[in-house]
Amino acid sequence: MMITTMVDLAVDLAALEHNYRQLRRLCDPKVKMLAVVKADAYGHGLLPVARKLAAAGVNYLGVGSLEEGLMLRRAEIDLPVLLLLGILPEEAARAVGADLEVALFRQDVAQALSEAAGNQGKRARVHVKVDTGMGRLGVLPQEVLPFLAGLKKLRHLKVMGLISHLAVADQADKTYTHKQLQEFTGLLAAARDTGLQLPLSHIANSAALWELPEAHFGLVRPGLMLYGSPPSPDRPPQASLKPVMSLAARVLQVKRLPPGSSISYGCTYTTPDWCDLAVLPVGYCNGYSRLNSNRGEVLIHGRRAPIRGRVCMNLTMVEVTGIPEVKEGDRAVFLGRDRDEYLSAEELAGWAQTISYEVFCALGTANLKRYTGV
Ligand SMILES: Cc1ncc(COP(=O)(O)O)c(C=O)c1O
Repeated sequence: MMITTMVDLAVDLAALEHNYRQLRRLCDPKVKMLAVVKADAYGHGLLPVARKLAAAGVNYLGVGSLEEGLMLRRAEIDLPVLLLLGILPEEAARAVGADLEVALFRQDVAQALSEAAGNQGKRARVHVKVDTGMGRLGVLPQEVLPFLAGLKKLRHLKVMGLISHLAVADQADKTYTHKQLQEFTGLLAAARDTGLQLPLSHIANSAALWELPEAHFGLVRPGLMLYGSPPSPDRPPQASLKPVMSLAARVLQVKRLPPGSSISYGCTYTTPDWCDLAVLPVGYCNGYSRLNSNRGEVLIHGRRAPIRGRVCMNLTMVEVTGIPEVKEGDRAVFLGRDRDEYLSAEELAGWAQTISYEVFCALGTANLKRYTGV
């Protein structure tokens, strides 16, 4: 993590709360909400984000690893927490000890959880993960009933429900998503026919929360939209989301280069004319993609300044010719708003051939974070 006052990665927790409330309005009040805070809350910082959402009334938190779950407990956050990736058998005692709920798709883990829960005089809560078409974690549809039958013998497990994940809910064409939902509903009915209660089943990510009320079931699991990004950048949601993360830096040096000057490693850019250049202290060690070389832009004085040459480890050069009075110490915005101009995570993702999720994770984990709206 970079600790430098030249670079300012800000996380606006008031915007996070605003987004949470917007998403709440899209659901029936009876539907619970699990905030996905895995991967250090998509780079926004696990504990500050979890605390803010807990105070705002979120019902559940979803994390990736046992370690993240334990961090929440050490911070005295006592909301229900679901370990979305499940656990290893040897982690069972610690998961049960901290009352963490587990996404379950392996019999050996089920056995370990039941044993650990028995030893601790508890019942381990599990959400049986089924693979309805994501092709990632989960029990395949034809194996779900035998899997559930195997769980019935484990007295110290409490099956909360079936859960699954949608592969293309963000696309306008919902054909595949409807097939996944049909598979899920069929499995729920079949599981209930065996006498299981299944009080809390869930499948909806941000995209399904927004566009598919029939996918809400008992609980929705948004991540991206809480952090202010639309799941489908080409079809922005009705809800007014506010960006939570922004990145700015101070101009380190300004200079005027004559025509024919090369800029940065590899000499990939040569000035065709006189060029006013600003050197900025952000590079790929700050999670700012090298694919932005000669392609991305930053905002200075509310104007777009194009990146010239390659993004370096700690530095990036932008052309400020024609932007009046740019001087050393001025603020340059890499992500976020500057006067009437705005650089979204989706725009950055486009330059770097990725998705806004990766932009958040990369910038958020590489820089010291400053929180506002706490
Ligand atoms: C299992 C699971 N549920 C929900 C989500 C949240 O998805 P999104 O950020 O698109 O809302 C994720 C994120 O990857 C996930 O892995």
